[in-house]
Formats: sequence, C-alpha cells, structure tokens
Amino acid sequence: MDRYIVTGGAGFIGSALVRQLLAQGHRVHVIDSLETGNLDNLEEVADEITVHEYDIRDYSRIAPVIAGARRVFHLAALPSVPKSILYPVPSHEVNIDGTFNVFRAAVEGKVGRVVYAASSSAYGDTEVLPKVETMAPKPKSPYAAQKLMGEYYASVFAESFGLETVSLRFFNVFGPRQDPTSVYSGVLSIFLTCLIEGRRPTIYGDGEQSRDFTYVDDVAALLLKASEAGDGSGRVYNAGNGNRFTLNETWSMLQKIAGVSLPPLYGPSRAGDVHDSQADTTAAVADLGHAPRFTFEQGLRLTLEWYREDLEQKGKIDPAGAKLVL
Ligand code: UD1
Repeated sequence: MDRYIVTGGAGFIGSALVRQLLAQGHRVHVIDSLETGNLDNLEEVADEITVHEYDIRDYSRIAPVIAGARRVFHLAALPSVPKSILYPVPSHEVNIDGTFNVFRAAVEGKVGRVVYAASSSAYGDTEVLPKVETMAPKPKSPYAAQKLMGEYYASVFAESFGLETVSLRFFNVFGPRQDPTSVYSGVLSIFLTCLIEGRRPTIYGDGEQSRDFTYVDDVAALLLKASEAGDGSGRVYNAGNGNRFTLNETWSMLQKIAGVSLPPLYGPSRAGDVHDSQADTTAAVADLGHAPRFTFEQGLRLTLEWYREDLEQKGKIDPAGAKLVL
C-alpha cells in the first residue's frame, strides 16, 4: 500500500487531514516534533497511523521516512506572525530550512508529489480585495516571508528537479483541536474559549481588521484534492472560503450564538498584522475542484460545540452552565 506522509500531522490542521486520509483507506505516517502539535489530536486514530517524533530541521531523520512516499503533505511549521517577530531564528530555521529539507528529501526519495501549506500572509496589505494569486506578494512579517520562500522553493523544485508540487495559501483556518492556550493561538480558538468561560476577549487594534475564516475540514478536503488534481507544476492556489468578517462582527456573532453579552477589551495593534484578508477562490475551484462545505457560522457552531465538550471532559467547565470550575 502507498504511504502518505503528513508533516505537522499532530497539529490541528494536520490531524484533520490524517483523519480524511484514513477515511480514504490510505496508510499514513506523521512527522511531528510535537513542539506545537499534540498527540491528543490523534488519540482515537493512534492505532491506525505511524508517528515519527522528528523535527524537520533534522534531515537525516526525516529523509528515510519520506523516501518512496506517494504523497507528502508538508504542514509542519512554527506558525504565528507575532512569534516570528519575537523569535525570528527558530521560525526561520523551521519554516525555511525545514521546508527545504522536506523538498530535498522528496526529490532524493522520488516522492510522487508534495502539497505545501503556504500562507495568505504572503499578500500583505493589498489595495484590492479579494486577493488573487496573480497579485505581487508583499510580506509584512518574518513568518509571511518564510512561508513565501517555501512557495518559491516548491515551484523551483518542480522546475529544477522535476518534483511535482502544489502550494496552498491557507487563509485563517479554524476548527476543532486548534490550541487556544497561547497568546499566539489563532484568534477564533481564543474567542471561542473566552465565550465558553464567560471571559472578555482582547481585540488588538480597533477590531475592524477582517479575515477570511476557513473551516478546517474544508482545508483538509482541498489538500486531498490538490494532491491529485492539477499538473503539480509548482502552482500556488488560495485555500480560503471567500468570505470576510471583521473581528468586531465575529465577536458580535459569537455573543448572539451563545446568548451572552460580553463587551470585548481593546489593546494595541499587533506588529506585522495585515488589515484585511479575503481569498479569490476562482483558480482553486477551477483547477482543483475546491468546494467549501461550511459557512462561517456553521463552522463556528461546530467548533464551539467541540470546545464545550472538550472543556467539559477536562473538567474545566460545569456542564450545567458556562462557569469555570477551576
Ligand atoms: C496569519 C495569516 C494566516 C496564518 C497565520 C499563522 C494573515 C492575513 N493571515 O494569521 O494565513 O495561517 O498567521 O499564525 O496574515 N487577534 C486579536 N485578539 C487575539 C488574537 C488575535 O484581536 O487574542 C487579532 C490579530 O491581531 C489579527 C487577527 O486577530 O488581527 C487574527 O490573528 P491570528 O488568528 O493570530 O491570525 P493572523 O495573524 O491573521
């Protein structure tokens, strides 16, 4: 049976992809340093997969795992715009050197195709919305520059070494299993846990910045499509939903869904923050068959439900109400 590799497979996006790969009957190997990923994300499928606790900076360890795989999904990264400004060195080493190692191992090991998790942050602040792949990239943070470099390597490896690659620019992915516990966590994981625990979130800036929030299962489905569709010539596609909501609108929606009133706190804007983000999905729909199934509100409701159950199971909230019992 053909092997499928997911780097970053213990992360929240990677683990959703692992589940979809297993549902299609594939044999899955995960490479994850567990620095930001967590084996809890793979708990109920642990017996069906092989996990290699390796860091992508370590070529000698990851190369034998990658060799001969049919497909590699390269999702391992140190995500977060602000973290890349505070700690640019590890961020550079993982996101650029580690990514180079994955592509190099894929060429050496004659892998069929690599699908690379690129980022919408590569666009920076554009005058026009939605953002189209033909726009000139304008990264505003080390993270954005690193993710863009990965795309360039993906297309250069296709051109120079004949490796099939596809890059997908993720747009603010959210959903179950996203870790809400760090200040660098995705904004929706923080908003949703604030909502459940009855806390007021802090919005950085005036809250009028907007994002194309994309549900994790839609991104996982597109990753699968990108591994088979298209020509693998190193092209870059937006992996977004095509919507755009400001943080103020988002927090209002969430309060309405939960039936609570919790006015947000406001803090200073974050360095490197892009103001608006929205994907033009035309190319991904036409070439890869991208077909998002979840509206923003559906995704929010499913994710809220998941966090509620998770916090209840961990004994952190009282199932009868939304009160913290810690
Ligand atoms: C960026 C990238 C995204 C990438 C992600 C990796 C853009 C447009 N998007 O996401 O493609 O996958 O990095 O981390 O650059 N915020 C608050 N309160 C909080 C937390 C965040 O107001 O408690 C704000 C941030 O300042 C930002 C927005 O929410 O304006 C989204 O932040 P975050 O979820 O960290 O993602 P991006 O930085 O947009």
